[in-house]
Amino acid sequence: MTHFINIAQFSGDQLFSLLKRAQYLKHNKQYPTYPQHTVAQLFYENSTRTRVSFEMAALNLGMRVINIDLDHSSENKGETVEDTITNLAAMGIDYFVIRHQQEGLQQRLAQELDYKIHIVNAGDGTGSHPSQALLDMMTIMEYKPQLADLNIAIVGDVRHSRVANSFQSLCKQLNMRRVTLICPKVWQPKEVLHGEVTHNLHEGLAQADVVMCLRIQRERLLAKDHLDINSYRRDFAITPQSLTHAKKEPLIMHPGPLNREIEIDSSVADGPQSVILEQVTNGVYARMAILEFLKQQRAL
Ligand code: NCD
Repeated sequence: MTHFINIAQFSGDQLFSLLKRAQYLKHNKQYPTYPQHTVAQLFYENSTRTRVSFEMAALNLGMRVINIDLDHSSENKGETVEDTITNLAAMGIDYFVIRHQQEGLQQRLAQELDYKIHIVNAGDGTGSHPSQALLDMMTIMEYKPQLADLNIAIVGDVRHSRVANSFQSLCKQLNMRRVTLICPKVWQPKEVLHGEVTHNLHEGLAQADVVMCLRIQRERLLAKDHLDINSYRRDFAITPQSLTHAKKEPLIMHPGPLNREIEIDSSVADGPQSVILEQVTNGVYARMAILEFLKQQRAL
């Protein structure tokens, strides 16, 4: 069975057609329907946007959706994730949208479980978040369609960001060469997937057409990673002042949730260059394209 685990599993052409399909679905609201399929959502980490967006996507495609209440599931009695999924699959559930704190879990489940199911990665620890990368790119394409020429700046806690990881991978697969990761030294990535790293916000912003601001992921910070929030704000926050160093009118993006007045000022997040809510809107269509793609693979 085909799964949706990370960006690197797809070719540039496949990713581009997923993006085009998501755009088509957004503008032509005639959706195919698949009422014989059921999606289970297993979110072991908090989520607002991603969970509801996958739910909207599945409902738009006429699929049934079951949100598993993990606070009251048998995993609290010691059942493994594998057994939970195997039992749900035995009831006829065939799509599993999973967010989990353990990096690589969805990949492992996809390899080990022998059922006729599709695993969809909705975020694995600090690993990847491939549906977010697609909705981010879809949003960029709407405003700046000449992707190859764009200069992308990703700013903030790059080290702990699955959003940054998947987005770098997507830029790589689409041959977008100009990616700059702007972060304090303590939050520089262990492995750069694509692009260059700088610790200087002003330099990094100078040529940026797109500024993707990341959330400070307090829940993932280890004691040694801690950085004084005031010094972070001074050196890395996206504010009207710091944007005076950027190119004229860059797109402002953020995956959400926002720490307002910490990594980004409200006047920027809610300002005329912000496409943050457009990202959220596009998430539904990007996820419809993903579910539909998996359904089509099933038919092959
Ligand atoms: C991101 C996530 O959970 O990885 N949020 C999201 O899915 N929209 C980013 C974050 O939590 O910072």
